[in-house]
Amino acid sequence: MTSGTLTTRLNVDLGTRAYNIEIGTGLIAAAGAKVRDLLPTPRVFVITDTNVADHWLEKLTTSLDDNAIRFAVKVLAPGEQTKSMAQVEELTHWLLDQGVDRKSTLIALGGGVIGDLTGFVAAITLRGIPFIQIPTTLLAQVDSSVGGKTGIDTRHGKNLVGAFHQPLLVLADTGALDTLHRRQLLAGYAEVVKYGLINDPEFFEWCEVNGQAVIDGDPASRRRAVEVSCRAKAAIVANDERETGDRALLNLGHTFGHAIEAEAGFGDQLLHGEAVAIGSLCAFELSRRLELCTGQDVERVRAHMTAVGLPTGLDGIAGPGWTADVIHGHMARDKKTEDGRMTFILARGIGKSFISRDVAMDTLNDLLSDILPK
Ligand SMILES: NC(=O)c1ccc[n+]([C@@H]2O[C@H](COP(=O)([O-])OP(=O)(O)OC[C@H]3O[C@@H](n4cnc5c(N)ncnc54)[C@H](O)[C@@H]3O)[C@@H](O)[C@H]2O)c1
Ligand SMILES: [Zn+2]
Repeated sequence: MTSGTLTTRLNVDLGTRAYNIEIGTGLIAAAGAKVRDLLPTPRVFVITDTNVADHWLEKLTTSLDDNAIRFAVKVLAPGEQTKSMAQVEELTHWLLDQGVDRKSTLIALGGGVIGDLTGFVAAITLRGIPFIQIPTTLLAQVDSSVGGKTGIDTRHGKNLVGAFHQPLLVLADTGALDTLHRRQLLAGYAEVVKYGLINDPEFFEWCEVNGQAVIDGDPASRRRAVEVSCRAKAAIVANDERETGDRALLNLGHTFGHAIEAEAGFGDQLLHGEAVAIGSLCAFELSRRLELCTGQDVERVRAHMTAVGLPTGLDGIAGPGWTADVIHGHMARDKKTEDGRMTFILARGIGKSFISRDVAMDTLNDLLSDILPK
């Protein structure tokens, strides 16, 4: 229990690298007490961005102070461009200037950008120091803060330089979502729905009933959505930490999604989660055309995305050149391609997804032509 409200604790079972995920409200204000006993030494470096700092930094630093934890803070510009090599250089120099040592711990207070960057800096500074994730977007709470993938973008593409580095602890304070823009919240919600679509049909049903409450801010619904999502991700990661097998299921909607995002320019035009919503629908529609699932399944996915306000197609999204060939080209360049064969996550129904490497290119190209804006 924290501040009179319920907190759920999950464990990510990775042997010596196992760690807990705590989910609930009031966790940022309670962070000092929660992390104190985990820290090798009571010294932390907090990395955040200006948007998050405005709302949540003081709560965190007060709780560190209250628990006699020494800290220094770095507030970065918000946005994907912060996940860069230049920023890694700047941060590592800042840490070394401050006298970071192997027992110091980094705290990532922010969305996936801050989490991925901080985790990567923790992985390489002094060949690896501990870090703690305090994710503040829904996407970061249900996806990027769990699993240990860290990294940055390069001019060759997103997330092409990185490391696997597991955190000491994840504190998912669902109260942080109260200050998040609704569009960002919805984009994160697309990843929540994804877990239902992958292997949990009951959870998809729960989303159909409770999705709106998650978005509107009901604390119990938010806690449950984050909990089920983290549990699903943790289970998949525990079985396949380095993505040699089933971890690829987490890419449901992402083969299409990444291609659409790449063409839209990885900016405000189309958020990652919005691309995942469209991509998930594409994955189901492709599955239907391959006679794996029914048209009813596709319509259920479409109806839920539409009901909560997520996009389900490219209409109204200005891509510089939406053609089937261009989208196909992005898909073929995806780093998940193996020996030139694209990997698809297909479905035999809602919650019955599987990995496939043999989709006929004619079927794919017909689908890509059909999803172009009319
Ligand atoms: N490591 C992984 O496994 C993994 C998985 C999925 C995505 N990612 C990465 O995550 C990144 C996207 O993460 P994101 O969607 O969280 O984006 P983000 O970190 O850019 O956050 C989105 C926006 O919300 C603001 N914000 C964050 N928390 C807020 C709050 N509580 N109140 C008000 N504003 C807030 C941020 O400043 C930013 O402007 C991408 O770089 C993606 O590659 C990584
Ligand atoms: Zn995603």
